[in-house]
Amino acid sequence: MMTDFAGALLEWYDANKRSLPWRDTGNAYDTWISEIMLQQTRAAAVIPYFIRFTAELPDAAHLAECPADRLMKLWEGLGYYSRARNLQKAAKRIMEDYGGSIPDTYQELLKLEGVGPYTAGAIASIAFGEKVPAVDGNVLRVTARILGSDSPIDDGKFRKTVWETLSDVMPDDRPGDFNQAMMDLGALICVPNGEPLCQACPLQFCCEACRQGRTAEIPVRKEKAKRKVIPLTVLLIQDGDRTLIRKRPETGLLAGLYEFPNQTGRLTGKKVLQAVTEMGFSPLRIERLPDSSHIFTHLEWRMTAYRVRVEESIPETGIFAGRDSREQFAIPSAFGAYVKYM
Ligand code: ADE
Ligand code: SF4
Repeated sequence: MMTDFAGALLEWYDANKRSLPWRDTGNAYDTWISEIMLQQTRAAAVIPYFIRFTAELPDAAHLAECPADRLMKLWEGLGYYSRARNLQKAAKRIMEDYGGSIPDTYQELLKLEGVGPYTAGAIASIAFGEKVPAVDGNVLRVTARILGSDSPIDDGKFRKTVWETLSDVMPDDRPGDFNQAMMDLGALICVPNGEPLCQACPLQFCCEACRQGRTAEIPVRKEKAKRKVIPLTVLLIQDGDRTLIRKRPETGLLAGLYEFPNQTGRLTGKKVLQAVTEMGFSPLRIERLPDSSHIFTHLEWRMTAYRVRVEESIPETGIFAGRDSREQFAIPSAFGAYVKYM
């Protein structure tokens, strides 16, 4: 049964695997970059970022030397920007401690910034053929269904069960393909939203959830803590065709990225004019822009926004950026609804 599992899965993978630009490149750097991008982003969305990033920064040496603002620009739109900062920290260490080569074992990979058990397993197995599982959310879902398990998949105990189960059934010769086959099965067949396509699944023969007709009930999750909702007023302060932006603090949410000035709370037009005046500008005209919202892992911004035309002046803080300088500053997607007004 267990050898059948790996055999059936790999046979399906060989016939159905997704063609992705970081696959089968034989380049551990590519595997590393792609796995970090794939941590919180779907494969289809990652593709153009991966191509652009690796074209400009083809190895750890280039990545280690990349100016921070340029790095953020290459990451702009992918979200979870600490991933990019950790990549660079790790690249610097790879240059200093590993002679410029990505470490080639699970244990050493775990020491890199931004590399946890999942990512270390993915890189070790895919790039170096080490027999070690790579357990992400997709793999947890697929395995929970196969085992017919009611344990919450976001619980560490279940993750350990999955790790052990997969360690037992992984083949010695193709661990990287086995792990990627589980990922592709999770993306294409045993899907997270909507009904899984059990009739097309190579693992149906050993799947408890399918046999019991319980694919809608599994996986189970722990109850989530509620996301904090933060009202925010965003200001597009414009002087001719330039818009005021400023750099966020170097620590915390969206650290070091650029943003439109904003403050917590829902300000009225009158309060906005007062705030803009206090910033040292002379407002000429104010216009309400559409509301928007952005969801982060632990909080949500509900944004009210105003465009305020001001008399030409030199800002005390921030930069008046023209449309052409958009290329230079990374503005996170949280402000995406307002970038078009620049
Ligand atoms: N998701 C995370 N890593 C992946 C990979 N190597 N292939 C496909 N999907 C993935
Ligand atoms: Fe998922 Fe259905 Fe395959 Fe089971 S048989 S692993 S539920 S797609």
